[in-house]
Amino acid sequence: MELDAFRNGKGKGKIIMLTAYDYQIARILDEAGIDLILVGDSLGMVVQGHMDTRSVTMEDMIYHTQSVARGAKKTPIIVDIPINCDETPKDALENARRLLKAGAHGVKIEGNKPEVIEALLKEGIPVMGHLGLLPQTAPSYRLKGKQPDEAEKIFQDALEVDKLGVFSIVLECIPEGLARRITEAVGAPTIGIGAGKYCDGQVLVINDMLGLDLSFTPKYLKRYTNLNQIIKEAVGKFKEEVKNGKYPDEEHTYQ
Ligand code: KIV
Repeated sequence: MELDAFRNGKGKGKIIMLTAYDYQIARILDEAGIDLILVGDSLGMVVQGHMDTRSVTMEDMIYHTQSVARGAKKTPIIVDIPINCDETPKDALENARRLLKAGAHGVKIEGNKPEVIEALLKEGIPVMGHLGLLPQTAPSYRLKGKQPDEAEKIFQDALEVDKLGVFSIVLECIPEGLARRITEAVGAPTIGIGAGKYCDGQVLVINDMLGLDLSFTPKYLKRYTNLNQIIKEAVGKFKEEVKNGKYPDEEHTYQ
């Protein structure tokens, strides 16, 4: 799939990206018609139940990429290279190739790592940048770029990463004004999460936007449904019907 089209299409409509980690959700997203699926290392939290993304391995990413690739037939799949797996250009290349083999169309690199990004692009591997809050290395998850020096560093990183030729840049948890300044300055489309409305696109973690974990309440998060409640209601109904002998009824029984 031609991911350079995203760079060329900057400004021609918002990019919609959501995460997926398994076959069925990937199939639904594919059918719903979004622009990009991200197999994010956020799976460390929302699938595996860890506090952060730091224990996610290449094996985890390969497993989930393979599952997503079975479900998404037309939507490009971008996959995070997890922590410590892109320390050198050689490592990054080797791991990116493993992810492409598993079904990825491009990889996401957290932070400004020019040698790594350059090496991947030189080998024709599409790269999505990721700046602002960097969960793989951040001591805590908080807004980034509020202070002028931190904002300037993120801005300069965005210019550098853009110049290398990434096909898009995720901007996570930064003030809207900074995201706007970056979006206007770079050639790659920006995809925001907690970065306001001026980005060229938006991404959310699918579990969050579906309302599976009601205890996760960052300011940027809008829940589009409440699957937590819907699932609990369905489970409660099943429990009640089994207990009172209503299920299985004749309609759901082989004779
Ligand atoms: O891992 C992830 O899901 C991400 C998104 C939050 C952009 O990096």
